[in-house]
Amino acid sequence: MKDLKFLIISGVFFTLTMSCAQTEKKVGPTLRTAYAEDFYIGAALGWGQILEKDSAESTLIRNEFSSLTPENAMKWMHVHPKLDTFNFEYTDKLVAMADRNDQFMVGHTLIWHNQTPEWVFRDEDNDLNDSTALFGRMKDHINAIMGRYQGKIGGYDVVNEALNDDGTFRESLFYQIGGVDFIYKAFEYAAKADPEAELYYNDYSMNRPEKCDGAVQLAKAIKAKGLRIDGIGMQGHWGLERPTLEEIEASILKIGNAGLKVMITELDITVLPNPRNVEGADLSASFENNAEANPYKNGLPDSVQMALAQRYADLFELFHKHQDIITRVTLWGVHDGQSWKNNWPARGRTDYPLLFDRSLAPKPAHQAVLGVVGK
Ligand code: XIL
Repeated sequence: MKDLKFLIISGVFFTLTMSCAQTEKKVGPTLRTAYAEDFYIGAALGWGQILEKDSAESTLIRNEFSSLTPENAMKWMHVHPKLDTFNFEYTDKLVAMADRNDQFMVGHTLIWHNQTPEWVFRDEDNDLNDSTALFGRMKDHINAIMGRYQGKIGGYDVVNEALNDDGTFRESLFYQIGGVDFIYKAFEYAAKADPEAELYYNDYSMNRPEKCDGAVQLAKAIKAKGLRIDGIGMQGHWGLERPTLEEIEASILKIGNAGLKVMITELDITVLPNPRNVEGADLSASFENNAEANPYKNGLPDSVQMALAQRYADLFELFHKHQDIITRVTLWGVHDGQSWKNNWPARGRTDYPLLFDRSLAPKPAHQAVLGVVGK
């Protein structure tokens, strides 16, 4: 009897030890663990990922990433579709997931000219609002979101894409109605709504010197008004060759030297040709069967796979070098199948811009990123 008990107990112990060892082995080094000392590594999650439809994918998201951003769920048209209607279902779920997984949650985005309903800018007669009415709507929107997630969302893209590539202000409806004040108001409301949350300005093409200068000047103007801004996000929708590492580094330093945190917020590397160079390109049409614009429909050649891995290694080498000023690098999606690049700037293509492939397997680029920090 005693022997049997011993056998059972040691058997259970053996099984437990083995299964722990196996789980550990399966996880191995991940982006999250490899870069734990450097900066957060994040991913933008789409609708299905927020609902945790695929448990293998949910596990991967938990193991590989230390930060999460909603790809669409927090944009004005989704979270606040009508004046008195908020839809917090998806953002609530994502915030709970980030909390459970101990991930830094990013609010994207409070004020942006895209994916914002028309009613924000118009009164009951469909005439354009004046600035007082617009600012009132912005304030209600910001208070509702930031109030709800106080202490749960660590940082927000308060204003997104307010600049042209030459550093001047974009003529959005926000700007036409409110002038540059719309940006100051957004930061003022945000700081009041959640004094603990970090506040960011976020934009693309930040590698362009004029645009980066414009963003840094804007941040200085925000501070000169006695308001708070903590960092600037460089989106990072880049290609295999461009922008150059030198251009990216110059902007990282420019932002860092202005006393602001730097974030690479929407990283993806397209391997596809620019469709604008394809003769007669009609960007509203589907490019699925256009061999010139969509060359890797049936798979990515090894040479391009390796070039992508090298590009990711070079970029992360640069980010690692500037870990003192970079606080987060977020990929704009988890796997290639999910990426918006399959449909932008041309529809119906097959792109390979991320670190996991369509079946969730890590790509050589994933290994290359780990290799930068010797993992
Ligand atoms: C994109 C999403 O990835 C798409 O699913 C959506 O259809 C359009 O928006 N800059 C941003 C992101 O700040 O919010 C955009 O995300 C990509 C460009």
